[in-house]
Amino acid sequence: ASRKKIALIGAGQIGGTMALLCGQRNLGDVVLVDIMEGVAKGKALDLQQTRSILKFDVSITGGGTTDYSIIKDADVCIVTAGVPRKPGMSREDLLKVNLDAITKVAQGIKQYAPNAFVIVVTNPLDSMVYAMYKITGFPKNRVVGMAGVLDTARFQFFVADAAGASPQDVTAMVLGGHGDDMVPVLRYCSVNGTPLTKLVEKSKLDAIVERTRKGGGEIVALLGTGSAFYAPASSAVAMAESYLRDQKRSFPCSAYLEGQYGVKGLFLGVPVVIGAEGVERVIELDLNEEEKAMLGKSIESVKKSVAETRL
Ligand code: APR
Repeated sequence: ASRKKIALIGAGQIGGTMALLCGQRNLGDVVLVDIMEGVAKGKALDLQQTRSILKFDVSITGGGTTDYSIIKDADVCIVTAGVPRKPGMSREDLLKVNLDAITKVAQGIKQYAPNAFVIVVTNPLDSMVYAMYKITGFPKNRVVGMAGVLDTARFQFFVADAAGASPQDVTAMVLGGHGDDMVPVLRYCSVNGTPLTKLVEKSKLDAIVERTRKGGGEIVALLGTGSAFYAPASSAVAMAESYLRDQKRSFPCSAYLEGQYGVKGLFLGVPVVIGAEGVERVIELDLNEEEKAMLGKSIESVKKSVAETRL
């Protein structure tokens, strides 16, 4: 096909926003899939009707999960199928119900899009991406989880706000699981090369780290229903774009580790390069003892969550 094909499985808040972003960036023809067939079809139709105004060429169509053949030969599948958090819930509280959704979606992808690059967004992220990897049996470079890009983007915004800088100029790194013990690595953060620690006082930075860790929960509490979607959608689409356009951008993502960072057989948030081969490599940063200890704690949480999937 002359155009790439992007399957968005889950046509909720994140799925719908991603469809708009993929359209505006002309990334490829979009297929929205949801157990609520009408929602997928309705959003797709609404989005098709933006094409003359926003001026993009790709098409956006939709359908239900009774027929996964509509994702046939997709180049990229981005999965948000499942339920979001309600106020007071942790991401882990979603495990059982979302594992059920991921299992069905993984089977559909395996059957109809066996060569796709799969980006999982559904929470609890690190165990859902693990489940996707196990059930599809895809190679490790073709299954990845979106978390670090979002956590980093939150951190970048808070830092920029505190430093009176542009979020675009803030370089940041967040490691570990997508949970409340994620590890923002301050030593690797700067504003256009100026170390953060020089620009923002320590107590303020500590508060920013804490706010980043709870960044998702802050939005869940404000919205009252559902969780964040604009920044999560933007993050996943940036990863898809790097793959489709072979940009080789580096992002912190949940990737399958085989010894890096002392972790084997687990998905964990680490910096990776995404290009035409998918996750082309994992970047290993040197960590100090304190950072290693924080990462160790995060690894334990991810292990516990993965064990619950029984996969
Ligand atoms: N197959 C396809 N779609 C499904 C399935 C399934 N088995 N189960 C649920 N869905 C659909 C729902 O019908 C809904 O439209 O997934 C969609 C999820 O959309 P929202 O409820 O709006 O949630 P969203 O904010 O998009 O978040 C989705 O991403 O960040 C995570 O924690 C978040 O797990 C949640 C997911």
